Formats: sequence, structure tokens, C-alpha cells
Amino acid sequence: MPDKKTKRPLISSKTRRMLDKRALAEAGGGPERLAAQKASGKMAARERIDMLVDDDSFEEVDALVETKSTDFGLDKKYLAADGVVTGFARINGRLVCIYSQDFTVMGGSLGLAHAMKICKVMDMAVTAGVPVIGLCDSGGARIQEGVESLGGYAEIFYRNVRASGFVPQISAILGPCAGGAVYSPALTDFIIMVDGTSHMFITGPGVVKAATGETCDFESLGGADTHSRLSGVAQFVAGSEQDCFRQIRELLDYLPQNCRETAKPNMAGDDPLRESATLERVSELEAKKSYQVHAVVWEIADGHQFFEVHKNFARNIVCGFIRLDGESVGVVANNPQVLSGALDIDASEKGARFINFCDAFNIPLLTLVDVPGYWPGLEQEHGGIIRRGAKLLYAYCRASVPLVTVVLRKAYGGAYDVMSSKHIRGDINFAWPCAEIAVMGPQGAVNILYKTELAKAADPEKRRAELVREYVAKFASPFQAAKHGYIDEVIEARKTRPKVIRAFRFLKGKKVEPLPKKHGNIPL
Ligand code: HXC
Repeated sequence: MPDKKTKRPLISSKTRRMLDKRALAEAGGGPERLAAQKASGKMAARERIDMLVDDDSFEEVDALVETKSTDFGLDKKYLAADGVVTGFARINGRLVCIYSQDFTVMGGSLGLAHAMKICKVMDMAVTAGVPVIGLCDSGGARIQEGVESLGGYAEIFYRNVRASGFVPQISAILGPCAGGAVYSPALTDFIIMVDGTSHMFITGPGVVKAATGETCDFESLGGADTHSRLSGVAQFVAGSEQDCFRQIRELLDYLPQNCRETAKPNMAGDDPLRESATLERVSELEAKKSYQVHAVVWEIADGHQFFEVHKNFARNIVCGFIRLDGESVGVVANNPQVLSGALDIDASEKGARFINFCDAFNIPLLTLVDVPGYWPGLEQEHGGIIRRGAKLLYAYCRASVPLVTVVLRKAYGGAYDVMSSKHIRGDINFAWPCAEIAVMGPQGAVNILYKTELAKAADPEKRRAELVREYVAKFASPFQAAKHGYIDEVIEARKTRPKVIRAFRFLKGKKVEPLPKKHGNIPL
């Protein structure tokens, strides 16, 4: 019944008390701190959730949780929602669990109650089989709570690992992320950083200076550019928080809710039989002419849409999501414009991680091959290209999702084997007519095979050119491989899209029975 004067519904004193408590929790660190948060170019924790999720879909849990800690006067302070807003919501209609750290409440620092709120929504995500999204903005372990806050972090790390491969986990870094706190995002599937306002590091510039004498600032040490381009820690960079939330929504669209499901199809209305004159032109380029592999991906994909992952890191390999006939597909492609598309340590790790993710979440893989081999050099050998390059091989060999491969041009040496070849259980392997599948390129092969003959030849250069021509005619083609059945079909480049769509349709029921072992031993 409404109040006669105010016309508002009458509420009991108990309900009023509850609403007052809620209002206090929702006020965060108060107007001054919220203003400071805005002034530093950051949104408030609740605003972030509102912007990310579907309208009116957020259901908060644990708003009234408070710390039990009493040291350093914590018993006399009220920490709204203990510095983290948690709950579940819908994004594009799909359920997700969310936590959003509130920097206005003690710098978003993580005490035990704060940690256990995060743990609760992670547990809920596992129970319901829905993705977890963390919006991180925190000064790290709450110093006043000592080992309790360290324990709280460890509880989160444990759950990150337990949920890994079961539900997708996405971390948005929207402020500082320091010390051991970086390891929760690092254990999740994707990290997205906002340019200019987010930083991740194990030790800050001051400690770096004291320990190593190196001078750096927050940005060069752990800004979005550093982590997306150099270290590879972050898969995505956003220009603003709004852009960050847009990217998360787009990314989620390609993913299933959990490892027992497949991503929902999304029909863009693109013709599955669409042929491409652009691909034909690429295949007719001179062998030494480079091309943009992204253009090849766009031509194959529904609606020419490609959602690239790890765009700025190890650009010699390109990874990301497309849709084919509406189905979500992961793409791995060598990029001839960077290091001639050769595989190095970073590319191997980037590719392996992406393949592992797709395999864990039933996303089929399309591999586009144009690879001259592994990148040579002392730096690579001493950096562990043998151990770290093996990760890519391991990831492909272990993958049990449908694997369709197209050799666009070069597939040389060990890299031919690695890039989803038939031998490591590529399911359907195509090649363009211009493909060159061989142990090595013509020049290198002739130098080794005919070393003695060339040394004795009257005109070594003329003889070399003849031998290279002979080698090219015999080996630098897809036909030797096709003869052995290592290539299922040599296809016209213009028909690549319809061919791969049919291949994936055929493979939809693929099942691989794993050996009854505990788990393999990936070369870490
Ligand atoms: C308690 C903290 C805090 C923390 C910040 N605050 N970090 N309180 N524990 N870890 C409080 C500040 O005292 C301040 O409170 C408010 O949050 C805002 O902080 P400011 O310093 O005023 O903000 P700003 O200038 O923007 O600097 C942000 C910052 C800085 C760069 C994050 O606060 C900072 O360096 N904090 C410590 C970072 C850190 O070393 N954390 C521990 C990492 S080790 P008032 O009341 O004054 O507004 C770690 C271990 C995890 O996390 C291990 C897991 C295994």
C-alpha cells in the first residue's frame, strides 16, 4: 500500500534497514574518492558492470559482506562491499559471473573477505557452467590483513586453475595490478588492458631500480603496449574502458559457455559457396612476393569478419576467431609479412596457447600454412626454441577438435609437420596449386645436394640456376605430397571458402578417444 503523502510504497523498518545497508554498500568509497577515480580517467566499479552487461541483468551477491579483520583500525572502518562488487548477469543474453574491484575502497586492495567474494562467484560459475569475467583495479594484497590476504589470493589462483578449460575466464585490467596479484589474470584465458590506465608488474619501478639499476616508469614496465607487444601477457588492448567492454562482448560471442558446449552459431547471411577472386590473385603472385594473410582470412570468413587475438605480439603468426557458415572457428595462419612467416619462440607459444584454448572449448581450427621453417639464430637457440617451439607441436598433436589445413604457399621442413599436417592428425588438408611442400627451399636444397658438383662446375651460377629449376619443377609443388595422400585435395584458391566449410561440416561429429592417462607433460 502506498504512503498517502509521498505515494511511495510503504516498507517495513526491517526492509528500510536492509535498503539503507545496501545503499551504503553501493556508495563505494564515497563521493570524493569516486570523483578522484573519474578524474584519473577510470569508471566506478558498478558503472563498469552496468556498461558491460545487458540492461537490468546484474544480480549482485554478497553486497553486505564485511571484513572480519581488526588490525590497523580496520574494525573502525566501513569498507563498502569490502572493495569488490560480485554477482551474475547476462551479456548478449548469455549468463556470466562477474567481479569488479572497487579502487575507491582502500585502493581495491584484496583482503580475505574480498577474496572469498571473488571465490564465491568463481565457484558459482563452475556450478552453473558459465564464463567468469574479472574487472581488476586493485592495489594488490591488503597490507593490513597480512597473510590472510596472501591466502585469499592463493584461493583465487587455485580456482583459476580448477576452472581452466572448464569455463572461459577473461580478465580486464582497468587500473594497477601489482605483485603476485598479476597471477590470477595470468591464469585466465584472456587478458585485456586499457591503454594508459592499466599496469601489470611483479615489482614496481622503484624496486626494479634498486635491484637491477634499470630505470623505467609504470608504462614502459607494465603498460598495455609493453604487455600486448613485447611480453605477450595481454591478448588485447583497448583504447578506453568502453572499448574494453565492447571487445569482451565480441570475444564472448565466439565462445561456448563451458567445455561441454559448443559456441552458438551466428548466421551472418554470407553465402557458404562464395568464391573469391582475391584469393585467386594471391595464389598467382610470384613466389617471392609477400601478401597480407589477414586478407586471406577476411576472404574466407563469414562477412569478412576476423576477431584477432594477440594482434600485436609475435606477428609472424596470426591467431583469432572467425565464423564459417555461422560456426565459430579458430584460425592459425603464418604471416609472410613478418619474419617471412617463420616460426620462432614467441610465435610458437602464441599459437600453442590459442590452439589449447580452442581445443579446450570445442572450437574447430583452420590452419593457413605459409612457413619457410623455424627462425634461425643464437638468440632463438639459447632462448630455448627447441623446448618452447615444441609447445606448438604438442598443442596441435593433442588437439582433438576438427582440424582443417590449407597450404597456401610454402610448407618447408619441420614447420610443415608442425602446422597441422596430415601426419599429426590434420583431418582434411588442402593445398593451393602454388603450394611448395618440401624439406627446404630450392636454393638451400641445391647448395647441399650439389655442393661438390657446383664447386667443380665451369660456370657454377649457370649450373646452380639449372639445378634450382629442376628442384622447383620436381619438389616445389603440392603434387609430391598429394601423390602420397598427405594432401587430400589440391584446390583452386578461389574455392577455399566453400571447400573449408564443407570440410568442417563433414567433421562436425569428430570424436577422439584419449588414452587413459592422468595428463600429458607439455614442454613448459
Ligand atoms: C591497503 C592500499 C593498498 C594496499 C593502495 N591502498 N594499495 N591499502 N593495501 N595494497 C590504499 C592507499 O593507502 C590509499 O588509501 C588508497 O588505497 C589509494 O591509494 P593511492 O596510493 O592514494 O593511489 P594511487 O596514487 O593511485 O596509487 C595506486 C597504487 C599505490 C600504485 C596501487 O597505492 C600502491 O603502490 N599501492 C601498493 C601496491 C602494492 O605494492 N601492493 C602489494 C602488491 S604485492 P587512502 O585511505 O589514503 O585513500 C601483492 C602480493 C600478492 O599484491 C601476492 C599474491 C601471491
